[in-house]
Amino acid sequence: MNIAVFVSGNGSNLQALIEAESRGDISPGKISLVVCDNPQAYALERAAKAGKKVFVLEAEKGKAREEYDRQVAERLEKEEIGGIVLAGFMRILSGEFIDRYKNRILNIHPSLLPKFKGARSIKDAFEAGTKETGVTVHFVTSELDAGPIILQEKVSVDEGETLETLKEKIHRIEHKVYPEVVKLFTRGKLKIQGDKVEIKE
Ligand code: GAR
Repeated sequence: MNIAVFVSGNGSNLQALIEAESRGDISPGKISLVVCDNPQAYALERAAKAGKKVFVLEAEKGKAREEYDRQVAERLEKEEIGGIVLAGFMRILSGEFIDRYKNRILNIHPSLLPKFKGARSIKDAFEAGTKETGVTVHFVTSELDAGPIILQEKVSVDEGETLETLKEKIHRIEHKVYPEVVKLFTRGKLKIQGDKVEIKE
């Protein structure tokens, strides 16, 4: 299955997926395209180093979200993309795009959803003084940071924890779980039943 990984920034999750792919750990998934909305993203260097095709499309002021997404979809069709993996992609996708790729878009989020939605989840969790946070991988629906949850892994916030050490812990977990979920997805092991996801053995 041809996969497109969507990124906006550092791309450490992209890197983890690229490394998993090279070990054969996401097969039959194949990262066929990296989509990016930010020409300055370090993720683009990672993609280039791995020899991945990239599609960079910056948002233009005044351009409708649907129009941006249509341009992306056009490119995805050209590459015969079957699954979309959001890895730190900080744009909101239009309902039209999400419907087009219904049940084929995965997202990773650095909290135990539905807690700490949004773009600053690790910081928000840390500042709230929570003793436990984590990582969620879910299917994308038109509701932001919602959608059927595939997997969650907890991360404890320990005595003496700093925002930096918490970020590191969360990213370490992300880099482990995301390739695992992408593998299950590309092998057809994820079955959505209403709001729940069943993982088939
Ligand atoms: C990751 O922590 C991911 O969970 C988060 O952005 C980071 C991207 O890091 N995504 C969100 O907050 C989505 N709401 P990366 O560019 O190093 O993979």
